[in-house]
Amino acid sequence: MSTPRIINFGVIGCGLMGREFVSAAARWHHLLDLDFQPRIVAVCDANPAALTWFTQALPGVATYTDYHELLADQTVEAVYCAVPHNLHRDFYIDILRAGKHLLGEKPFGIDHAAFLDIAAEIDQHPDLLVRCSSEYPFFPGALLLAQWAQQGRFGRVFEVESGYWHCSDLNPKKPINWKRRIATCGEYGCMGDLGMHALHLPLRLGWHPHTLRALLSKIVTERPGPDGTMVPCETWDNAILACDVVSADLTFPMTLSTKRIAPGHQSSMFIRIQGTECSAEFTTKYPKQVRYLPYSAGGEQAWHELDVPFRSAYPTITGEIFEFGFTDALLQMWAAFCDELAHGRAGMRQPFGCVTPEEVGECHAIFTAALQSQRQVATVPQAAS
Ligand SMILES: NC(=O)c1ccc[n+]([C@@H]2O[C@H](COP(=O)([O-])OP(=O)(O)OC[C@H]3O[C@@H](n4cnc5c(N)ncnc54)[C@H](O)[C@@H]3O)[C@@H](O)[C@H]2O)c1
Repeated sequence: MSTPRIINFGVIGCGLMGREFVSAAARWHHLLDLDFQPRIVAVCDANPAALTWFTQALPGVATYTDYHELLADQTVEAVYCAVPHNLHRDFYIDILRAGKHLLGEKPFGIDHAAFLDIAAEIDQHPDLLVRCSSEYPFFPGALLLAQWAQQGRFGRVFEVESGYWHCSDLNPKKPINWKRRIATCGEYGCMGDLGMHALHLPLRLGWHPHTLRALLSKIVTERPGPDGTMVPCETWDNAILACDVVSADLTFPMTLSTKRIAPGHQSSMFIRIQGTECSAEFTTKYPKQVRYLPYSAGGEQAWHELDVPFRSAYPTITGEIFEFGFTDALLQMWAAFCDELAHGRAGMRQPFGCVTPEEVGECHAIFTAALQSQRQVATVPQAAS
C-alpha cells in the first residue's frame, strides 16, 4: 500500500476527551488498509499539569498553555477541541480563522446564539472541514439499525425512543464540576451535555421534531464545592422531550431523553424503533445485542436476539466474535472525519459521516425550544436552526 496521507492534528483541551483522542491515535493501526493517518503534533491546556500525561504519551509533542500559540503552529492542519461549553464559541471561531480543519466537541456553543456565531464563521470557510464529535452511532448495532431504517425494513415507523443516560450524579456526594454550572455548561444543562448522543441517529434518519413538550428536572440541587462546602447545582439533571415527527405517511411520537441521573446506567445510549413491519432496539449497555421483531400481517410477534458481529464502518484487525466498545467508536468516528478530510464526502470509503454543522444547528434549535416549553409549560414548535 502507498504511504498514507498524514494529517497533523493539534489537541486543545487535555482532559477526559483529549486523552481518549490521543489514545485513539496510538492505536490507529487497529484500522485496516486506510490511506490516511492522523498524527498529533501539538497539545494545549490552560492547566500545565494536564499536559504531563501527554508529554509522556507523545514524546516530542509541542505543548502550549495558550491555544492561540497552538493555532499559530504551522505544522497543525486540523484541531480536535474538547473544552467546556462556554469556551466553544471563541475557540472554534479562532480555530477556523487560523485556517485549521475542526473536529469540535459537542454542543458547539453554550447556547443557540453562540452556535449561530460559530455557524456564521463556518460559512466564511467553505474550504475547511468542520464536524462535531458523536461516536455512539458507530457501534455496529446502531449502524445496523440505521441501515435497516434506510432500507425501509421497519415499514411505517410509528414510534421512536432515543436517549443517553448516566447515573453518577445520583450520588449527592459527587463534587460539583463545570457540567453542573450554568456559566460553563449553559442553561441547557444535560441537553447540551448529552443531547447530541440522543439526536445524532434520529436526525440522520430524517426524524425531525415538529413540535415538542419538555419535562426538565433538577434533582440534586447542591453539591460539594472545591473546599467541601455545599454549592448550588444549577443545571438541569434530566430532560424528557416528547416530540411529534411529521413523516410522509404518518405523524408519530418520538421521545428523546437525556439523563444525568438514571439509576444503574453508567453510560447508555439507546434507540428503539417501532414499525409496522419490524421493531428493533439497541443499547450500548448490551453492546453486542440487537433485539428485533419482524412482523407480517397476522403473523407471530416474537422478539429475536442477535449477537451483532464486530463489523464496523471501517474494517479493523478485531475478529467478528469480539465486543465493540466506546474506544472503538471514537476510533471509527475519527476515521470518518479523516476520510472526509482526505477524500471529500463523495469519496469516503463508507457512507456514515460525522455530525454536520447543520445537524448541530438543529440540536440547538431543539434544546432552545425545550427551554421555552419548560418555561411556558406548553408544547412549542421547534424553531428553525
Ligand atoms: N464525545 C463524547 O462522548 C464526550 C464525552 C465527554 C465530554 N465530551 C465533550 O468534550 C468537551 C470537554 O469535556 P471533557 O469531559 O473532556 O472535559 P474535561 O473537564 O475533562 O476537560 C476539559 C479540559 O479543558 C481545559 N481547559 C479549560 N480552559 C481552557 C483554556 N482556556 N485553554 C485550554 N484548555 C482549557 C481544562 O483544563 C481541561 O483539561 C465538552 O464539550 C464535552 O461536552 C464529549
